[in-house]
Amino acid sequence: ASAATQAYRASLLYFTADPTRDANATHYLEDGLLLIRDGHVVAASDYASVPAAQRRQLTITDYRGKLLLPGFVDTHIHFPQTEMIASYGEQLLEWLNSYTFPTERKFADAGYARQRAGFFIDELLRNGTTTALVFATVHPQSVDALFEAAAAKQMRLIAGKVLMDRNAPDYLRDTAQRGYDESRALIRKWHHHGRLLYAVTPRFAPTSTPQQLALAGKLLQEFPDVYLQTHLSENKNEIAWVKSLFPERKGYLDVYDHYGLAGPRSLFAHAIHLEDGEAQTLAARGAAVAFCPTSNLFLGSGLFRLHPLKQAGVRVGLGTDVGAGTSFSMLQTLNEGYKVQQLQGEKLSAREGLYQATLGGAEALQLADRIGSFQPGREADFVVLEWGATPLQQLRQSQARTLDDRLFALMMQGDDRNVVATYVNGEQAYRRP
Ligand code: GUN
Ligand code: ZN
Repeated sequence: ASAATQAYRASLLYFTADPTRDANATHYLEDGLLLIRDGHVVAASDYASVPAAQRRQLTITDYRGKLLLPGFVDTHIHFPQTEMIASYGEQLLEWLNSYTFPTERKFADAGYARQRAGFFIDELLRNGTTTALVFATVHPQSVDALFEAAAAKQMRLIAGKVLMDRNAPDYLRDTAQRGYDESRALIRKWHHHGRLLYAVTPRFAPTSTPQQLALAGKLLQEFPDVYLQTHLSENKNEIAWVKSLFPERKGYLDVYDHYGLAGPRSLFAHAIHLEDGEAQTLAARGAAVAFCPTSNLFLGSGLFRLHPLKQAGVRVGLGTDVGAGTSFSMLQTLNEGYKVQQLQGEKLSAREGLYQATLGGAEALQLADRIGSFQPGREADFVVLEWGATPLQQLRQSQARTLDDRLFALMMQGDDRNVVATYVNGEQAYRRP
């Protein structure tokens, strides 16, 4: 980024806390000016409060009439599954065997992985997502391909090589030792390379031996600030399978906990069918979970209990979980999240939803001091949204009389068509054609 100060005039929206807990957490500046220098936020101000003499020193990009907010944070997604999004007819375990494993096999080819990684990063940016926690495949070259593509855009991205040494086709299996060695080499190569970070990535308990889970725990001890990502309690058949494979453990979460995999940098996807005490254990370990509504509905997995988990003290991020999830758009993910709440007699306001998609995700990833808001010093990742990108959206927006109503309609109707531009590290990384 250049040393000059960049300025963006737009309606600014960001959160400094969870708006369901803190009435002062929402920051909306109808005519705002976002000042960026060296890839970091200098200030988010009312345009009128910036002295005219200072304004004349600035190059102001005019996004008046548009909504500028921190880049979306997708806390659970599989980059190799991009091409198999919307595959028909199965629930989790059959879906993995029918579609997922044959697709992930193709990523043994580094050239193929590079091509798909470029597409994936572009698709994130088209949707306004600037940070994601990503599963690659079992092949280390798939991780290299993804990190290379993210580094080219200076993205803050977290990813890891899948660990899988049993109950998967032989063409997708590593061994406990090889998985450890390859993960270790990838951590040394990529963790803190620019803005990139590494996540130790056992796919889920059924596809790892106890030895592999123990070595995953060893990696977390050796590299205390790497992440751990996996799946937890997504599907009832999956849970029964875990109990049959690990009869000596108290339950699904206890398998991970026993091997030291539940900590403050752990992110468990789904956590739908938790049993007594498991939410409390997650909270006690400081672990976070990913709410993936489009995936949970698509695979028929179940309904995530957003408010009970938050009330138990568990940090929650929002995830698309592509390719079980059906959209890269975090707005579409919130649209489905609202319906998941409705089915349980609960609500998801636009404020809470947009908080979860930005600062809430950053908090789930322990990155709230770096991304997720426009507080001074934060990294300058942001998205510019159009309120109405279609005739129907424009009609609906024309009827909205309050900010909350405008935001709610945007959350329900919006998608990639609303993304005018996406900025990463202070630089434009996507612009709508
Ligand atoms: N559980 C284990 N692997 C996967 C996966 O790839 N997607 C989802 N949704 N759940 C999983
Ligand atoms: Zn997943």
